[in-house]
Amino acid sequence: MKDKANVTVLVSGGGTNLGAILAAERDGIINSGRVRLVISNKEGAYALTRAKEAGVPTETVTKKSCGSQEAFEEKLSRLIDAADTDLVVLAGFMSILSADFTKKYEHRIINVHPSLIPSFCGAGFYGLHVHEAALAKGVRVTGATVHYVNEIPDGGEIIDQRAVYVEDGDTPETLQRRVMEQAEWIILPRAVEKICAGIIKTEG
Ligand code: GAR
Repeated sequence: MKDKANVTVLVSGGGTNLGAILAAERDGIINSGRVRLVISNKEGAYALTRAKEAGVPTETVTKKSCGSQEAFEEKLSRLIDAADTDLVVLAGFMSILSADFTKKYEHRIINVHPSLIPSFCGAGFYGLHVHEAALAKGVRVTGATVHYVNEIPDGGEIIDQRAVYVEDGDTPETLQRRVMEQAEWIILPRAVEKICAGIIKTEG
């Protein structure tokens, strides 16, 4: 019987969303789950430092070192399974996963995306590009979405969304920061807690 669901977080970069999850765990906002493992697909990603500072084990798995998408996903899968993972969280993970992989973890992988899906999402829309596109379109409201991951990039069932106003004079960087602060860092930890609570209730 599990008192907490095991969470593995996949990252590629700065890891502010990972930081928000770790802070929520520390502060008891997440108390139905614990981050057991952080995996980066980029060598030296700052997210790895954040994990180490919180005492969470880390792994780095690059597609290049694996040689193919299949081998990359196999390695990810082995690590995820070895950590007895209940929930996989993509937190700024910039690699598209195949249908085979996402099917294996159906309703067990979530992602945070920095727009209000279905706007500014899908292949090519990641990181700062999303905010560049929002500003180019001239939208006055944007936001963030947490959703389940399936074989369609940013196409899985929506779990939560939060709107954020665009301000006059915004740059992609200022907008990115506001969307993180006012939306992503709030709805992602909240979704992790909710899903983990459901997992331990039904399987704990
Ligand atoms: C976040 O804004 C996240 O929503 C986005 O990249 C940033 C990563 O920041 N993810 C995507 O665009 C995925 N399609 P972080 O590494 O500081 O969490």
